[in-house]
Amino acid sequence: MTVKPVDSTAGWYVNAAARSWRTSPLDSTIREFHRSLPGYAPTPLVAVPEIAATVNMGSVFVKDESQRLGLPAFKILGASYAISRALSARLDAADRALSLEELRDRLGSSSKLSLAAATDGNHGRAVAHVANLLGLPATIYVPDGVSQAAKHAIVGEGATLFVLDVPYDDVVQHAKSVSTGDVVLIQDTAWSGYEDIPQWIVDGYDTMFAEIDEQLREAGIDHVDLVVAPSGVGSFAQAVVAHYRSTEHVPAVLSVEPDTASSVTSSLNAGQLTSVFTADTIMTGLNCGTVSDLAWPILQAGLDASVTVADSDAADAVRDLAQQGVDSGPCGASTLAGARAVLSHPDRRAALGLTTESVIVLLSTEGRAANPKGFGSTI
Ligand SMILES: Cc1ncc(COP(=O)(O)O)c(C=O)c1O
Repeated sequence: MTVKPVDSTAGWYVNAAARSWRTSPLDSTIREFHRSLPGYAPTPLVAVPEIAATVNMGSVFVKDESQRLGLPAFKILGASYAISRALSARLDAADRALSLEELRDRLGSSSKLSLAAATDGNHGRAVAHVANLLGLPATIYVPDGVSQAAKHAIVGEGATLFVLDVPYDDVVQHAKSVSTGDVVLIQDTAWSGYEDIPQWIVDGYDTMFAEIDEQLREAGIDHVDLVVAPSGVGSFAQAVVAHYRSTEHVPAVLSVEPDTASSVTSSLNAGQLTSVFTADTIMTGLNCGTVSDLAWPILQAGLDASVTVADSDAADAVRDLAQQGVDSGPCGASTLAGARAVLSHPDRRAALGLTTESVIVLLSTEGRAANPKGFGSTI
């Protein structure tokens, strides 16, 4: 494996006070809901000792989301739970997530409801997939840059697809403006007045961390020192922070994003929500210019650090993880690139309280098949 020196000018933010911020644990009904889905199984937590040696850490584990509930990315955890909560609320069961079976029974064949989402790939495919399982129509909006393969995957789930010649943030605005009445918008970012569904999406991600806690316990490991999450609009990082600020041992949480779409790092450094211009990246799911309104206060209070990485670093990480037998697309592998960008600097290691004995978990949120640009498909 080749280990390239990491660009020391990469964007970086650190907050020494974040570790003392606390949250309450979520209830276990979220995991029960996911267990009720067809094909549910915990995804693997894979030890990568060769990588641990190259970054001078005690252990590195990769949470491999390349096959989650029949799809090549983690997004269905949030989409499925949020869809169930949103539809349950419309069926007078506002306080719980009915199983898909019960939803199908209660909706019947004459339901006028349909689902909609804006996406740059994975989230929209997950919404379309769950709509299909429920027998509901779905309309998915994507920016022009999304690949043919991603568009085909969404259409293959039975959804109607609209391709818009505008950036992702504007696609979200469009989906928002046309989704009214019986059209339920399932969007993974929040704005004023639209908070319940994005929060349920974030809550749905918690199942991944509950699995990790269990898998580490089973491996005889009682704590983790650093958890690394890829960030687009920051909802996933929000879920990571919310979970790991409620656990007994409190790890550092690091967010990683492309240097061409640094909305989280830029906002945290500016001390206020700051939209950034974005440019093309192989980390397609992370190509977002605006942090979610819901994520922002959580990230500001409880995120230890944020770093940006270049496409070339993410590409190296995809190949290095593949060599270790882990199927990780550029968004997922950005966590290894981000970890390297931190662990190669003694001052950054020290700021996060890391030693050569530390335990790291990289959240590899997609497999190579999820990458809308097909990056890494030939590895
Ligand atoms: C594979 C993958 N990882 C990570 C993310 C980042 O999630 P968020 O936009 O909630 O920060 C996304 C978002 O689409 C994604 O598709």
